[in-house]
Formats: sequence, C-alpha cells, structure tokens
Amino acid sequence: MTATKTPTSAEYLKFVEDSRRVTAIDLRAYKPAQMERRLRSLMTRKRIRGFNEYTEVLKNDREERLEFERYVTINVTQFYRDPSHFNALERALRERFQQSPGPLQVWSAGCSNGSEPYTLAMILTSLAPNVRHQIHATDIDEMSLNHARQGRGYSADLLATLPKQFRADFMTPEAGGDTFAIAPQIKSMVTFKRHDLIKDRYPRGYDLILCRNVVIYFSNETKFEIFSGFYESLNRDGLLFIGASEMLTGLREIGYAQHGHGLYQRPS
Ligand SMILES: C[S@@+](CC[C@H](N)C(=O)[O-])C[C@H]1O[C@@H](n2cnc3c(N)ncnc32)[C@H](O)[C@@H]1O
Repeated sequence: MTATKTPTSAEYLKFVEDSRRVTAIDLRAYKPAQMERRLRSLMTRKRIRGFNEYTEVLKNDREERLEFERYVTINVTQFYRDPSHFNALERALRERFQQSPGPLQVWSAGCSNGSEPYTLAMILTSLAPNVRHQIHATDIDEMSLNHARQGRGYSADLLATLPKQFRADFMTPEAGGDTFAIAPQIKSMVTFKRHDLIKDRYPRGYDLILCRNVVIYFSNETKFEIFSGFYESLNRDGLLFIGASEMLTGLREIGYAQHGHGLYQRPS
C-alpha cells in the first residue's frame, strides 16, 4: 500500500491540545500527517472510534496513557538531539580533555538507531582526534540495532540539529541524495549490543553514560534502580547525561552531584 499524504484533520488538532493536558506527550513536536495516520491505526486496533473517545480513555486509564506514550516516542531520536544540552556536554568534555587527554569509555544506553552514539563519536573525534575512544551502545530493540550497525540510511530530518561542520565532516550523502551514511572513522568507534536495562547485568568502567529519553516511561522505583546501576557502572568523576525533559528525583540520594544541563557526576 502506498502512503498517501493525508491533510491533518481538525479532530486531530484538537487531540494534540487535549493529549498535552492528560499525557506526558506534546504531539506538536511530531509530523502531523504521519502521526495522525499512526494514531488512527492504533485506535482501529483498539476499537476506539475517534480522537474524542481516545482522549477520554487516556484521561481515565494509566496503562493506556503509558502505552500511548511508548507508542508515540519509542524510537524517536535525532543526531545532536537537544543542542543546548549537547553543547553543555561538549564543554564538560573539553574541560576533561584539558585536564587529562586520555581515551574515554562511553555507554549509550537506549541508543535507538545509533544517532546518539554516533553524535558522541563525532564530538569526541573533534575534541580529542588522535585518541582511541570506545563507545558501547545498547538497546532492547533489535530492529533499531540493525539499522544502527549499518550506519546508513539516515534521513535528512534526523540530521536537522546536527552542527553543519559535523555533517560536512562525518556524514556522506547516499545515492538519491535523500539519506546519509556515517563516515567509516566514526562508525568504527561504536559497537552495538542488545541489552535490557530492566533485566540485564550492567557493565562497569565507564567515564560517561548517556541514557536519554528512555526512562521517562518507567516507574520511579525502576528509574531509581537504573540510575543506581549506572552509578556503579561509572568510574569516579564519571558523567551521566540524561534527556532534556527528564526530571529525575533521587539522583542526589544515590550520590550523584549536578554538573550542568542534563549532566550528573559520580564524585571522586
Ligand atoms: C525515545 S528512544 C531514545 C533514543 C536516544 N537515547 C535519544 O535520546 O535520541 C528510546 C529508546 O529506548 C529503548 N528502550 C526502551 N526500553 C528499553 C529497555 N528496557 N532497555 C533498553 N532500551 C530500552 C527503545 O527501544 C528506544 O530505542
């Protein structure tokens, strides 16, 4: 079936406003025609007859709200997502390299299609080019990992927030010009593996852990366990980098010190 470009309905536009009030999702950040189509197919599967009825369901049922949020955001990612936060990370890493120029061990947990760990590989290459950094990237979703391992087929909208210089230096347009591939030097810095943050053992010895836009859907108890696990995985002075919209309680209790926009540190 070919995807037709449906114009966005007034009913959907009202739902965008209603769902913002009852869920953690702001649908204004998503492509409207595509999202309306996806949500209509979800409602059909659930035998929900329209967006007004769906709003009522979401208002009254926590499980449905969680499912909706996962459905909408599950694999959404972007290179250099939330630029002001990545700028803050770059500043912190620059300081770190001024003090000690050695290689970094990094874990990108919930890495989706690789946009996040490849962004980090670009940052490390630009800040400390002749050093053999290692980025270990994990996700629960094999399909995302398969895309990530290929390191190609990234559409232009995924690159919208990537600094122009990084795009010029580290991304190559593919045949047809609609998609881009990762430069081999960047690709070789990242290894991908399936890992479930809820069930699997946490590896150790990291200088930096990125876990962004993954835990937002988890209970407070689970978040606490995950961030306690990361604390043990970090080396002393290691940094944890979380998502821009993530409000985390309990990080101080675990022992982290705040270190700037979305950045927390395991003290020395
Ligand atoms: C919204 S994406 C975020 C991707 C990237 N971190 C970013 O911020 O752009 C969330 C990712 O978390 C992954 N995820 C969800 N539950 C997980 C779990 N229990 N363990 C590991 N990854 C998980 C999903 O498969 C998805 O790729």
